[in-house]
Amino acid sequence: MKVIVLGSGTMGCGIAQSSIVAGHETTVIAHSEKSMGNASEAIANGLDRSIKAGKLTAEGKSECLKLLKVSFRLQDCDDADMVIEAVPEDVDLKREVLAAIEAYVSQHAVIATNTSSIRIDSMASVLKDKGRFLGLHFFNPVPVMKLVELVSGMDTSQEALDIAKGFASSMGKTVVQVKDSPGFVSNRILMAFINESLHALEEGVATKEGIDTVARLGFNHPMGPIELADFIGLDVCRDIMKQIYDQTHDEKFRPAGILESMVGKGMLGRKTKKGFYDY
Ligand code: CAA
Repeated sequence: MKVIVLGSGTMGCGIAQSSIVAGHETTVIAHSEKSMGNASEAIANGLDRSIKAGKLTAEGKSECLKLLKVSFRLQDCDDADMVIEAVPEDVDLKREVLAAIEAYVSQHAVIATNTSSIRIDSMASVLKDKGRFLGLHFFNPVPVMKLVELVSGMDTSQEALDIAKGFASSMGKTVVQVKDSPGFVSNRILMAFINESLHALEEGVATKEGIDTVARLGFNHPMGPIELADFIGLDVCRDIMKQIYDQTHDEKFRPAGILESMVGKGMLGRKTKKGFYDY
């Protein structure tokens, strides 16, 4: 399969890494020359982690890298079978990128968005062929996380769903099909959980370490909710909660005050080396 990944952030690089490991010719479309270099480096580093973990050999890595291309020209997308949009979670930006890509890709290509909270149907309106559009929601770190949510829009064809499901399965992912509903299943549960943990922190029910320990030892979660929020990015969590709140008006998704103030101070979690914890 020929795969195009639009966006070279953490999710775009993770999807591209998993795609080349699955044997697909994959092109990452970055938005600048600088981000092209960063993407190649991030993907090579990710493959090194797989070598270290004993899941890939050095020859395997060079075979994978032969399947990878990084570009910033949409013109390089014309023979794609599968396109995955993974640009930042901004509905206008996503609409703009999706409309632009449709002009370049062939008629048979399936177009997926990796949105974590925006309704598929609210983006489908910019496409001429809505039947080939759907959501493929990956989880961070993509090479490690085994789940993909497959989101069907009102007009998505069964053929497109089958192709996307086959693609995700080829990467070793388990696919769960979900309705085009605010936050799908994953973030409807996860963001309510993270937000409630932050309310508990605000109320002084326990320290952040205490809350995280409850989830790690009490529920066997690999990370507590507050560590996980730092890992996802506090701005990303806030934006997802806002998206869900705007669609549902359900108070449980109104971002906790402490989350808003952390984002306001630029303390965004691991990526800024300061969040609820220091890194
Ligand atoms: N490429 C390849 N392998 C990678 C990798 C990468 N980019 N990143 C990590 N790994 C591998 C490591 O090599 C290691 O492999 P082995 O266990 O076989 O040695 C394994 O993953 C674990 O990595 P580490 O040892 O470095 O770290 P860890 O054991 O502390 O685990 C973690 C880190 C996998 C992130 C774990 O803490 C975890 O699962 N956390 C929860 C993550 C989670 O919930 N993600 C979903 C977030 S929600 C989301 O993404 C969706 C959304 O819409 C917000």
